[in-house]
Amino acid sequence: MTTLVTGIGELTTCDEQWAASGAAPDEARLGTLRDAALVIDSSSGADGGSGIRPTGESAMSTIVWIGRREDAPAADHRIDLGGRAVIPGFVDSHTHLAFAGDRADEFAARMSGTAYDGGGIARTVAATRAATDDDLRALLAARMRELRAQGTTTVEIKSGYGLSIDDEVRLIRLAREVTPHVTYLGAHVVPPEFAADRAAYVDLVTGPMLAAVMALPEASWPAYVDVFCEPHSPHAFTADEARTILTAGRDAGLTPRVHGNQLGHGPGVQLACDVGAASVDHCTYLTDADVDALAATGTIATLLPGVEFSTRSPYPDGRRLLDAGVRVALASDCNPGTCASSSMPLMIALAVREMRLTPAEALYAATVTSGASIGVDARVRVGAAAQLAVLDAPSQLHLAYRPGVPIARALDLALAGGGLPR
Ligand code: NIG
Ligand code: FE
Repeated sequence: MTTLVTGIGELTTCDEQWAASGAAPDEARLGTLRDAALVIDSSSGADGGSGIRPTGESAMSTIVWIGRREDAPAADHRIDLGGRAVIPGFVDSHTHLAFAGDRADEFAARMSGTAYDGGGIARTVAATRAATDDDLRALLAARMRELRAQGTTTVEIKSGYGLSIDDEVRLIRLAREVTPHVTYLGAHVVPPEFAADRAAYVDLVTGPMLAAVMALPEASWPAYVDVFCEPHSPHAFTADEARTILTAGRDAGLTPRVHGNQLGHGPGVQLACDVGAASVDHCTYLTDADVDALAATGTIATLLPGVEFSTRSPYPDGRRLLDAGVRVALASDCNPGTCASSSMPLMIALAVREMRLTPAEALYAATVTSGASIGVDARVRVGAAAQLAVLDAPSQLHLAYRPGVPIARALDLALAGGGLPR
């Protein structure tokens, strides 16, 4: 079954073949097409389910035609978007959505001056361990709906609130039920029961816990290993511990990622560049040498502006990174401690307002570069999965221009009219 999606006032493809001649570089990269149309084939599954599945659909649909509205071919069905903008669905490449419980009280305390140090993670570990598989499945399913309702079509999920062999294995298995982009974060923090013997916990994470994760059936394997490398937190890992953990994960076939330079200057960025990490995330405090290492290695710097917002921390200067030639991604880090928002439009608005990205750069970072950090091509192209978001707005500019207004949602062909408000 094919559907002609027409009435697209502005189509952002992120494919430069559609760039208008003379466009500024950031605009050219968006590959913008005006008065556009798309044809989507829902009988074929393009990517074997790399994105978040729309409700009621068993496979992803494929884009089979892109062009100007007046050139559009016929199709079995037709949806008219009435001049709305269409963009690649957001790729949220850094989340911790496999958890139970809530820590709103910590947020309130921070707003009156308490600093974040990672200690609250233990509370979420306790709540998550106490939850049943079905509790966690229901929470994950609700969160997947929440993401799509805000335009996110692809998500990475980390473990890290289990911190025992059985609980880490369980979180990875459950996360893998909702996304193929899963990260082993057994080294989120040293759990309280190992506080007196950190080395024993590193041995567990790199030994029996990693082995148990990789003993899961292949369909449940994670793709990445991550570590919270942060000398400014008594709960997180030092550079040496983090290197041991990433190396063990890499030896088991996992690609490293790093939580680095969140609470102060530190070794995380250099370590990530050294071990060939796909990304180093947070990057709140960077030296010139850190920026140079990122530019030289091509390791993606994933900025998480919701964390600076929710922990009242200074925002890193995204402009400085882009001007130095660093690849910059945006993600939510959605988690109960440092950022409880899953809104990629909010991350874009913050990156534009507080990190000095242009709206075009922020959208690219939240789609293509975020996708690149998890091996996903988010561009809107013929043959690609139809992972699209539609905006109740004439232009992608409205993402940053109308912060807090729910204008973005995943395009859902199974719903009448694509799930748009009437
Ligand atoms: O990415 N920094 C470490 N981990 C998370 C926070 C987890 C939590 O506080 O529950 C982060 O910010
Ligand atoms: Fe995180």
